[in-house]
Amino acid sequence: MENPLRMGSIVPSSPALCRRVVAQTVRGPDEAMLELGAGTGVISRALLAAGLPPERLFVVEIVPAMAAHLRRVLPGANVIEGDARALPDLLPAAWHGRIGTVVCGIPLVLLPLAEQRRFIDAMQAVAPGRGFLHFSYCATSPLPARKLGLQARREAWTPLNFPPASVWRYRPV
Ligand SMILES: C[S@@+](CC[C@H](N)C(=O)[O-])C[C@H]1O[C@@H](n2cnc3c(N)ncnc32)[C@H](O)[C@@H]1O
Repeated sequence: MENPLRMGSIVPSSPALCRRVVAQTVRGPDEAMLELGAGTGVISRALLAAGLPPERLFVVEIVPAMAAHLRRVLPGANVIEGDARALPDLLPAAWHGRIGTVVCGIPLVLLPLAEQRRFIDAMQAVAPGRGFLHFSYCATSPLPARKLGLQARREAWTPLNFPPASVWRYRPV
């Protein structure tokens, strides 16, 4: 409530949306997963429930109280308290280039283009060529893909989320 632009939603993603996000993730045997803006941790917990080993999960959360909560609900996972725009400095170098899927839960739609680029550049720096998954309540792409040098694809939609939500995949062109 203190920072609605940063939070984007007052309710966590529903189990239906979490399932759809998890279904779109890929990871090689030597790779990890990364969630940006993990909030209450519902998507991360769904990733773990689907069999992701906790030591292969990295989450980044800027709000200290939420990062502390994530440490409690994601035992064994790597919870990083910080600003995802500084991702290349926050993620241990050994994992750069070894991220199978990035899930971005930060509400990028609310940001100006230059700010969106900062997040996208940060993701691209640690997971080059992989793109990212993003979920949104918008009927159309929440990001101006062409302006950002991305290809956009709506992979899934669920009316069972409040509000109804889509899962988008963005890839560098
Ligand atoms: C819409 S909530 C998503 C929560 C959760 N992933 C879910 O699906 O319910 C957005 C989250 O992104 C976090 N956030 C916003 N800006 C951030 C930033 N620059 N770096 C890291 N986390 C950020 C917020 O604190 C909030 O927890």
